[in-house]
Amino acid sequence: MKQMSHLDDSPSTPGKFKMDKSPYFHRTRWQSSVAKLAFWSLVFVGLIFIFFYRSPSSNPVSSDPSRRSLRTYSWGGPAWEKRVRSSARVRTRHGISVLVTGAAGFVGTHVSAALKRRGDGVLGLDNFNDYYDPSLKRARQALLERSGVFVVEGDINDAALLRKLFEVVPFTHVMHLAAQAGVRYAMENPSSYVHSNIAGFVNLLEVCKSANPQPAIVWASSSSVYGLNTKVPFSEKDRTDQPASLYAATKKAGEEIAHTYNHIYGLSLTGLRFFTVYGPWGRPDMAYFFFTRDILKGKTISIFEGANHGTVARDFTYIDDIVKGCLGALDTAEKSTGSGGKKRGAAQLRVFNLGNTSPVPVTDLVTILERLLKLKAKRNIMKLPRNGDVQFTHANISSAQRELGYKPTTDLQTGLKKFARWYLGYYNGGKKAAS
Ligand SMILES: *[C@@H]1O[C@H](CO)[C@@H](O)[C@H](O)[C@H]1NC(C)=O
Repeated sequence: MKQMSHLDDSPSTPGKFKMDKSPYFHRTRWQSSVAKLAFWSLVFVGLIFIFFYRSPSSNPVSSDPSRRSLRTYSWGGPAWEKRVRSSARVRTRHGISVLVTGAAGFVGTHVSAALKRRGDGVLGLDNFNDYYDPSLKRARQALLERSGVFVVEGDINDAALLRKLFEVVPFTHVMHLAAQAGVRYAMENPSSYVHSNIAGFVNLLEVCKSANPQPAIVWASSSSVYGLNTKVPFSEKDRTDQPASLYAATKKAGEEIAHTYNHIYGLSLTGLRFFTVYGPWGRPDMAYFFFTRDILKGKTISIFEGANHGTVARDFTYIDDIVKGCLGALDTAEKSTGSGGKKRGAAQLRVFNLGNTSPVPVTDLVTILERLLKLKAKRNIMKLPRNGDVQFTHANISSAQRELGYKPTTDLQTGLKKFARWYLGYYNGGKKAAS
């Protein structure tokens, strides 16, 4: 019963409703009835709470950022455990069992599907927050369900849930992709970055270090950690102590936190610095995605340029290449060395760039989209604001090439063609545009 429903396990309201009987309950009849009244009032309020926050019709795209940390998820019970076990069951001889956080996200969906396809056990976890249109996350979830991947609805900040998952399945690996993404949104809702990228990550690592056996962890860092670094291409050894956004700072913090858990507990940790990942089922908050939407709608798009009309360019990396990099990282991850929360020896600690090694100016991206959509974009050239975005990114991937066998093969033209085809299909020929 205890694990059936959890009212908010987020740090913002750590107090949990406990049903444990206290000795005061039976002192006198009067006290007992007061206690009963209080108890049922709490249950009543709790039910209202659950109804209000679970109801899909209750303003799903709320602008109140605090609402997101007040979500209720229900999990547990024999049927739920059976689904968890079945989804995580390894179906090939040397397969691995992977807990994928952020599984209903863009990269999470593709990685989960790829792992399942090759016979690995996969269990998804996602909190389905409304940072962007949750219906897209639900559609990805439906896709995963059809391929046999169960996506548990819950938060990485919920330690009880994570412990339960490890109790039900001895995961060999964790693919940690759950995060608060976006560079400019950090000015609107800074706490959500701390909540997901720092508190959530630490909570996950705490559970992983106590798990027996400890899993190996591969997780998503970001190319944004290079911040104001001007040396190109970006190599893993370059300085990453000048983040240009809170998002970048929380990802950089994640890398330092990873070092700590590796050092103290012997957790095997691999961080992947993704460079502008794009493709079908992508994130609507990314430029290539909303440029497509706005070009189809005939809306003006804002294209940033650097100082002195400098080119803003990105090392766009196609999703299938990223997936191969993720799988390569999982397959080459060594076992964690600790057990029972104690380190037994040195463990693997790695960080890799996963990029495409060919930055493309954002103006070229728009030209490719115009050709694919057979429409002219209304361009509005704007100065790049100093609120998080850097002028260019360019990955040196020689390390990932050597250690993970990573070799991107999709150029922007080819990748965008696949994206555009998906977009037009998904949004009904672009008529039902993404919100
Ligand atoms: C890329 O990084 C490797 C180290 O991983 C380094 O040896 C090489 O010189 C770098 N290449 C460039 C073009 O900076």
